[in-house]
Amino acid sequence: FHVDWDLVQAEKEGYDHFMLKEIHEQPRAFRNTMTGRIDEKGKKVIFEGLSLTSEQLMQIDKIFIVACGTAYHAGLVGKYVIEDLARIPVEVDVASEFRYRRPIVTEKTLVIVVSQSGETADTLAALREARRLGAKVLAITNVVGSSIARDADDVIATMAGPEIAVASTKAYTSQLVAFYLLGIYLAQVRETIEEGERISLIEALEKLPEQAEEVLSYSENIRTFADSIKDHKSLFYIGRGIDYAVALEGSLKLKEISYIHSEAYPAGELKHGTLALIEENIPVIALATQDELYEKMISNIKEVTARGAHVLGIALAGDTELHKSTDEVISVPSTVSLFTPALSVIPLQLLSYYTSLALGNDVDKPRNLAKSVTVE
Ligand code: G6P
Repeated sequence: FHVDWDLVQAEKEGYDHFMLKEIHEQPRAFRNTMTGRIDEKGKKVIFEGLSLTSEQLMQIDKIFIVACGTAYHAGLVGKYVIEDLARIPVEVDVASEFRYRRPIVTEKTLVIVVSQSGETADTLAALREARRLGAKVLAITNVVGSSIARDADDVIATMAGPEIAVASTKAYTSQLVAFYLLGIYLAQVRETIEEGERISLIEALEKLPEQAEEVLSYSENIRTFADSIKDHKSLFYIGRGIDYAVALEGSLKLKEISYIHSEAYPAGELKHGTLALIEENIPVIALATQDELYEKMISNIKEVTARGAHVLGIALAGDTELHKSTDEVISVPSTVSLFTPALSVIPLQLLSYYTSLALGNDVDKPRNLAKSVTVE
């Protein structure tokens, strides 16, 4: 027993928890997921061994992204990326819903399943149902020998390395990187973006690991905010566009390990109900990283501060406005809009980690949850 304990400690490599270690492994996971998938000149994305031909990719008229939990949230970002770059309509479904409805799937449909473990029962069943209906299935997974990888037509492996903590961190951001590569690849094949734009996207992608390292260096401010939210019963995450997808993931992270109730809202929807719940001192995490939606976001933030909310803003570096309407600001380095989730989620992961820690919870093994759900 003594030996086992030492072994676990050794595997944590000096970190107190696997989750913290895995959060810090993200820059490396980004690099590894990109390795071999960008040509030497940085002009093209290459996916070697993909069985889907360019002709097949040209014919796709609909994409479903199907997954559970955190992987589903990565899929929500994937939708923005693929629709924006490759102009193919994308629908994102929770696997346990997709498999029990009658989705409209044809031979021209591509179904992308996303799964860290590659063993989630609902995702596997959705994959099989999609294939039965005639769709091609592409799996984004972290485990190459998994059931999902074996049953799919094609696999894009995320190279995050083993993820032990139940709350997923580096697997999620590696899934985002996989979607960025895939989005650029589809746009390249279908010629929906110019070569110049593609090259700048690739350049921005290659900067992400270093930028993630920078975000990791200011965890102290986040720790202070964690202390301020730990005794609250409920809080809110708001954002617009792709920031909303990140808000959902931030909220899930907090629920999973701190057991504090939280909800993520598209900021423009607040006034249709949720605003009624905003009262004095309630914490609100507001993501404002999207240039085109910035002014709208500021007015939403003002709506909550006017009712006494205590707001933590997540902004891009160089933002000199946000601090005027929030109580604290964490900024992340500037990148192209579609890539901000890979950076803006990091402070939210740290926030849930420190909140869970402050509450004395079992960070790596939260109550009632399992790392991989292989039964229904
Ligand atoms: C479980 C885990 C989550 C994970 C989900 C999907 O609920 O606790 O962290 O996001 O399953 O798992 P998968 O392995 O398919 O990504």
